[in-house]
Amino acid sequence: MSNVSSLFQPFTLGNLELSNRVVMAPMTRSMSPGNVPGDEVVEYYRRRAAGGVGLIITEGTCVGHKAASGYPDVPLIAGEDALAGWKKVVDAVHAEGGKIAPQLWHVGAIRRPGVEPGGDAPGYGPSGMAVPNKVTGHAMTKADIDEVVAAFAQAARDAKAIGFDAVEIHGAHGYLLDQFFWEGTNQRDDEYGGDLAQRSRFAIEIIAAIREAVGPDFPVILRWSQWKQQDYTARLVDTPEALEGFLKPLVDAGVDIFHCSTRRFWEPEFEGSDLNLAGWTRKLTGKPCITVGSVGLNAEFLPEPGSGSADFQAAEPASLDNLLQRLDRKEFDLVAVGRALIANPDWSNQVRDGQLSALKAYDKSCLASLV
Ligand code: FNR
Repeated sequence: MSNVSSLFQPFTLGNLELSNRVVMAPMTRSMSPGNVPGDEVVEYYRRRAAGGVGLIITEGTCVGHKAASGYPDVPLIAGEDALAGWKKVVDAVHAEGGKIAPQLWHVGAIRRPGVEPGGDAPGYGPSGMAVPNKVTGHAMTKADIDEVVAAFAQAARDAKAIGFDAVEIHGAHGYLLDQFFWEGTNQRDDEYGGDLAQRSRFAIEIIAAIREAVGPDFPVILRWSQWKQQDYTARLVDTPEALEGFLKPLVDAGVDIFHCSTRRFWEPEFEGSDLNLAGWTRKLTGKPCITVGSVGLNAEFLPEPGSGSADFQAAEPASLDNLLQRLDRKEFDLVAVGRALIANPDWSNQVRDGQLSALKAYDKSCLASLV
């Protein structure tokens, strides 16, 4: 196997100093009753910091807007109790020498009335649709847009105030920001709809408002994806040129790090090159990039029968060797690990120490409790 040392080199960006390149991917756990992260959540993140993760990105945590949440028991990052809960998480992670960023989330039109907090509020989206051509929620007015932008900025300001080391904006997977990016769910005819540059306006306003709220030296990460949970084959851009056009205004608005969400890190993004999405994003923007997607998962536990993911059979390309070679070539800077870290709180230290055979396989039963 390749030398894992490249994964354990420090990473510095301004004031953000990470001891290594391993990032915990944001993962919703729905274990925060009353939308407040409690002691079990504190312990869950503390264990990953103690296990050697360089940067933890929290599960999606909802900004303070009435329709931000779409699922029960998901934490907020607004209000005294939730912020006090997060402060305990931050302090515990820091006590283990770790770093942590919250993932700021608004689910958009995916919400259904009745989920708390939010009561009867419907899903809010660019055109009231979470799925192309299916209107089920409220099409956001300019006043709604301003309110949500302000809620993201406030969440970032609060995150900085309680000691988080960076913030990540959830701009991926078909949630609110991505509903604006995606032609399928954004059918507006004002300045927030139209071509991709116009569909990016909402995200750009959020990034700029966050930047203003946290100042120049606080790292702002943007997570984005081509795929949507509503449609794994959806794409925002099909060529490097289009990708460059999409990314440049996001950089200008204040993104420091791009978190490029793919389901399989080894997949080339465009024909004629091996580079993955993070590789292209780094090449075109010069910004540090995080890759993600099936890191540390072995072929034997990747496919879920009947899930349509039979193409997960590619054991060899998914190997750690492949990842390390790409990291050595500086295709990307940081590596996010999701499911393998749910199954193995010490994943980072175990990989560092060559204890691969001791790693546990992930399966859905790992989600039953916060181990
Ligand atoms: C996720 N993922 C995810 N992504 C995100 O941006 N915000 C979130 O809150 C969640 N929630 C979530 C929950 C669970 C249980 C899983 C398994 C995944 C996606 C996650 O961050 C990651 O991109 C994928 O899991 C792919 O990485 P792995 O698991 O293949 O390493």
